[in-house]
Amino acid sequence: MEKITVIGAGNVGATCANVIAHKDLAQEVVLLDIKEGIAEGKALDIWQTAAINHFNTRVTGVTNDYLKTKGSGVIVITSGIPRKPGMSRDDLIKTNASIVKEVTEKAVKYSPHAIIIVVSNPLDVMTYAAYQASNKPSNKVFGMAGTLDTGRYRAFLANALNVAPVDIHAMLMGGHGDTMVPLPRYTSVNGIPVTELLGEEELNKIVERTKKGGGELVNLMGTSAWYAPGAAAAQMVEAIVDDQKRIIPVCACLKGEYGLKNIYMGVPVKLGKDGVEEIIEVQLNEEEKKLLKTSAAAVKDVMKVLDKMKLF
Ligand code: LAC
Repeated sequence: MEKITVIGAGNVGATCANVIAHKDLAQEVVLLDIKEGIAEGKALDIWQTAAINHFNTRVTGVTNDYLKTKGSGVIVITSGIPRKPGMSRDDLIKTNASIVKEVTEKAVKYSPHAIIIVVSNPLDVMTYAAYQASNKPSNKVFGMAGTLDTGRYRAFLANALNVAPVDIHAMLMGGHGDTMVPLPRYTSVNGIPVTELLGEEELNKIVERTKKGGGELVNLMGTSAWYAPGAAAAQMVEAIVDDQKRIIPVCACLKGEYGLKNIYMGVPVKLGKDGVEEIIEVQLNEEEKKLLKTSAAAVKDVMKVLDKMKLF
């Protein structure tokens, strides 16, 4: 791919650009921020690792200069303020919604064919906002949460079982909040159901820790996480650039799937060069359906706050 843009050169955006460069996913990755000099500095710092880490992707930093993002194939939006201890992701909506709207409009103007991946919080509703601002088909606008949340879930399981994290395969659905729905029934260690390897109590503890995984880090660091969120977004970029047809949880626009519509939320999708190429409807039992419904209701509540802002 010729060009990938990452908007927002905070911790998440810079990490994402760094991983994109490491993976050599494009000829150029453009990092854009509104704060004078920050994107330029971080881009230069990343570029100075090229000879050390063996990559060739050019890394460019710009201050609010969308012209430099022109012709991007993928745009990752990380703009907005992060959480502080005591805040939920939903507390960020008032500030982040207008930012996401503005950057989406500007970015789409210069890259009308780009696929957009939203990372800003509250994730599900910010993805919906970017979709509205972009005027693009919904398969081209989606959000990153499931890769991060399953990344955490898989890390906890790998520790509990003392196995390689990559051998843990897991699916998770719902909103990117404390109501998210990790699915132990769809979790395996290279095909062996995790329910055969871990007791219910320990599994439940891991599910609960996963749901609050973002908050655990906010409490430790005083701000939200970046290594895993940035890497997770870069992995989605890779699936698109290499047309990998990965089956992963993505915050996608639902149009009747799982009995839900007019909502963006985490579901299993096939991710390839056209973005969300398919939404996969897995069988859920009554308990799982109930949890998903609760999560959808939580997302809808935040959507109502967005609607009241009358940005669209
Ligand atoms: C987290 C933030 C990025 O889950 O939503 O760490």
